[in-house]
Amino acid sequence: MVTHLPSPSPSGAVPGSAPDLSRLPDLQRYLATLPVDEREEQRARLARFSEADLLSLGVSEGQLTEYDYRVDDIDGRIPDELAGTLYRNGPGRWQDHAGRPLHHLFDGDGMLSAFSIADGTVHYRNRYVRTRHYLGRTGIRHLGTNAPGGIPANIGRFVPPNLANTNVVKHAGRLYALWEGGPPHEIDPDTLETKGLRRFNGELRWVGSYSAHPSFCPRTGDMYNFGVEFIPRPHLRIYRTDRTGRLKHFRSAPLPYIAMVHDCALTETHLVFLVSPMILDIPPVVLGLKPFGDALRYRPERGSVFILVPRDGGPIRAIEHDAILAFHLSNAHDDRGDVVVDAITYRDGRLLDRLSRFRTAYLDDVPSVFMRYRITPSGRVQADPLADVPCEFPRHHDAFEGRAHRYAYLNTRRRLTSFYDSVTRLDLHNGSESTYTTPEPGNSFCEPVFAARAGGSAETDSWVLTVEYVARSHTSRLVVFDAADIAAGPIATANLRHHIPQGFHGSFAARSR
Ligand SMILES: [Fe+2]
Repeated sequence: MVTHLPSPSPSGAVPGSAPDLSRLPDLQRYLATLPVDEREEQRARLARFSEADLLSLGVSEGQLTEYDYRVDDIDGRIPDELAGTLYRNGPGRWQDHAGRPLHHLFDGDGMLSAFSIADGTVHYRNRYVRTRHYLGRTGIRHLGTNAPGGIPANIGRFVPPNLANTNVVKHAGRLYALWEGGPPHEIDPDTLETKGLRRFNGELRWVGSYSAHPSFCPRTGDMYNFGVEFIPRPHLRIYRTDRTGRLKHFRSAPLPYIAMVHDCALTETHLVFLVSPMILDIPPVVLGLKPFGDALRYRPERGSVFILVPRDGGPIRAIEHDAILAFHLSNAHDDRGDVVVDAITYRDGRLLDRLSRFRTAYLDDVPSVFMRYRITPSGRVQADPLADVPCEFPRHHDAFEGRAHRYAYLNTRRRLTSFYDSVTRLDLHNGSESTYTTPEPGNSFCEPVFAARAGGSAETDSWVLTVEYVARSHTSRLVVFDAADIAAGPIATANLRHHIPQGFHGSFAARSR
């Protein structure tokens, strides 16, 4: 007798089998709050997952405890010259004041981590940013989840709460937790205590939008950043903060439509923006019918625009282009009059749907492509792919910001469907790559962050730091790579007693000598 078994899904799971969610209490609570049809839809998604993919979902469980301890469990050897603090930011819990689970990846309360590294030792500390939302004083309507109570509870409540969850950067001796829809929170760099919201003497006015992706000029020490404003018409309000920490409005650039703009890049002569047609359908949001995240739609028929803002005050250029969906730019540079900028791009808008239902999201049909765009003085745009593997979170050596760099470091995805299980160094000169893929099922990496060797001048004279989620033990670990040889694997890991939920961005602050 021949038994016909169901065909395995692309990820190796048998369709229709009930997934074991016993290790995922937050996910179970979330599913229990959904309407029946949506719950079944999401359970059907989970039934496609392989065992490793189900294990990987532990990184989306919340971490409610704040820790402060020396990490004793270290494998390998932390280099003595590696001295400073890796700061990371990301959602720590996805719930409102009443404990109600939230839908959207971007809706988690910002939780900062600090790995303080000195003399081969590591100290770990994490603290939630004491936002008004965390303290329970604001925000019942979130980016991806309406407030309970239907239209009366949601109508007119347009701006979601400032969660301070996206990036953490140090400039002019001050540490800031960033969230693009509002002003930054200043944080004590040693204790991670929240010092308060900062508006820089009123320069961040009204909503105070301030992107989570500033660019730093290694030549001048300036930090450039921007906010998206809609009144009286859509525009980018760009800020320059000098090396002493004084922030001033620098310039404003019109936007072609009300769009989400997440990142910018810097060359020695220009600020570079790539506007993707992620366009908000305003009426259902204002009327309280849909949360902001569900009303954000990819509208490719509206096209994209590159906006080039000269740093010397010259005229701003807007170069139209076929639609590109991108959140993250990598580096940019000037090349004989051309502006060159690299970006992580997506083919269509499915990523937005996955972000708004992140707990069961898979990305195997949402591949990204790392692209290079060359913009000529006449406004022609040449587009070339840099890598053909799904990737995100590109970083490079900080000293090469705004200049041509050779190596891009990024997360890549080889086996998992939802998370990035690899760290890759891509050689932009010849396209070769050096990749380390975690051998353990369900493990994933967050963004690789550069830590330059003091006194080093070569681009690879550095370490790359990241955090790996260890699925089997539901813990996380700091991972240190030699930037010159990623494929060789970690040179050291510092193993935490607990996990850190999936994060967004971070930075390394070298210890001052
Ligand atoms: Fe980002």
